[in-house]
Amino acid sequence: MTSQQLRSEFLNFFEKKGHKIVPSFSLLPTDPSVLFTTAGMQQFKEYFLGKKSPYGDKVASCQKCFRTSDIEEVGDDAHLTFLEMLGNFSFGGYFKEEAIKFAYEFLINNLQLPISQLTVTVFGGDNEVPRDEESVKIWEKLGFSEKNGNLRFCGRADNFWGPTGEEGPCGPTTEIHIRGIEVWNLVFNEYFQDKNKKLTPLKQKGVDTGMGLERLAMTAQDKSSVFEIDLFTPLTGMINNQDEKAKRIIADHIKGAVFLISEGILPSNVEQGYVLRRILRRAIQYGKSVDLTSLARKVVEIYEDIYPELKSRETDILSVIEKEKEKFGEALKIGINTTASEIAKGDLDGETAFRLYQSHGFPLELIKEEAKKAGRVVDEEGFYAAQKKHQEVSRAGAEKKFKGGLADDGAEAVKYHTATHLLLAALREVLGPEIYQKGSNITAERLRFDFNYPQKMTDGQIKEIETLVNQKIREDLLVEMKEMSKDKALKIAKVSFDPEKYGEVVKVYQIGDFSIELCGGPHVGRTSELGVFKIIKEESSSAGIRRIRAISLGHATSK
Ligand code: GLY
Repeated sequence: MTSQQLRSEFLNFFEKKGHKIVPSFSLLPTDPSVLFTTAGMQQFKEYFLGKKSPYGDKVASCQKCFRTSDIEEVGDDAHLTFLEMLGNFSFGGYFKEEAIKFAYEFLINNLQLPISQLTVTVFGGDNEVPRDEESVKIWEKLGFSEKNGNLRFCGRADNFWGPTGEEGPCGPTTEIHIRGIEVWNLVFNEYFQDKNKKLTPLKQKGVDTGMGLERLAMTAQDKSSVFEIDLFTPLTGMINNQDEKAKRIIADHIKGAVFLISEGILPSNVEQGYVLRRILRRAIQYGKSVDLTSLARKVVEIYEDIYPELKSRETDILSVIEKEKEKFGEALKIGINTTASEIAKGDLDGETAFRLYQSHGFPLELIKEEAKKAGRVVDEEGFYAAQKKHQEVSRAGAEKKFKGGLADDGAEAVKYHTATHLLLAALREVLGPEIYQKGSNITAERLRFDFNYPQKMTDGQIKEIETLVNQKIREDLLVEMKEMSKDKALKIAKVSFDPEKYGEVVKVYQIGDFSIELCGGPHVGRTSELGVFKIIKEESSSAGIRRIRAISLGHATSK
């Protein structure tokens, strides 16, 4: 069976069993305490906690997932960063008996897998949660028991799942392994775990299952690794002259990158953007002689029928990959030279390693490799300590600088004011450095921004600018103000209006290393205080001047 047949076989099976089929949610979850959607249940989290589900109490889906926890494992037979998760869910409807029987019926009757290939695990109990005797009894009726050698008990680490994020539903699980590989996880949500890891029984019991499509395909297609299934062979077939592990890493990471970029994520040094940068740079590094653009195109082709957003954003996807390749090339050149001269002096302390990382975008992994070649070591703990210190210092700076004052200036208007700086920087990046601000008007509800540009912007350009501004909001950049002489400011900052109207000492606002402008303020302390940026109109204002109207939707998804 092809992967596509497996997807539809699964969804049809559960539809016939009375489940509503719900489309995949975005890879960017609404829960700000997690970076990515890692499981099918995330979009249903509150229905497990008693909120009424608009889809009824039984649903099934095929969910796009991205897992950073497995990055180091990618290259073995079974681990991936991007994967698709098939799942059926019950919110206070059926429980253990039906869930186990559905799974058995689907695998044995529908897919006709030999029962001899299946083994199961059940939660063995600990001092907080009892052994799951109910599941044992159900499995026994189906021919699985310790005595038969096809049922094992496991502890918390293996057979207890959730919550995703800081708190939420969780519970004991029973897992189905096919030929020794864990394929389907059936979670019985019986508890709520709070921020202090305290468990309380849930009033409403739920079922949350997750089956990796790639692992299922691997067994259904009789392959010994997920990289041999039909969702990977078109990719691995294009990667020549690489050892098997490198091939797998390149294929996985390019696929992951394509999906992340399709969600509007851009490479950066924080959060989702950092993960994207990391997998992209790893793919570039392993695949120096590989045509990554063609590989990315192939990913779009493989998935476009299921996830049409890939095709509609293909141009953006390819250009982000190309740009990151260039940036990485430059960073590598500078980074290798600077690292080499630091290494020549001896082992690398944490501060120095962090400086190389921070100022040259040179990844810690590469710093370690370069050091190793020269027989030196890197103080990794020191590196992380320096990174933490850096984050704390910038946060404290922001709090001090922006305490008070905001309410007087209207907090919403202040946010829009900062958004105009991000907008101008994004316009200059996308349309060119010749763009200047020609005027702006801000209320608590929206911003209006005029700039010089000779023609109507395309939908693609508008989207690209929106994406870039939102990326910078999510990056949680520090907004810093410095006072300096007008002469100095005019040399380093972008000028919005005629310089004549400024005094001799001026304020300059800098947002990360993305924007720098002469401005009187006030502004927010960090970009994550802004909501999601949306351009609602682009029109002509006068000859050669365009006007953008934009609004902010709720709060940003970042921490
Ligand atoms: N939500 C179950 C799993 O991801 O395994």
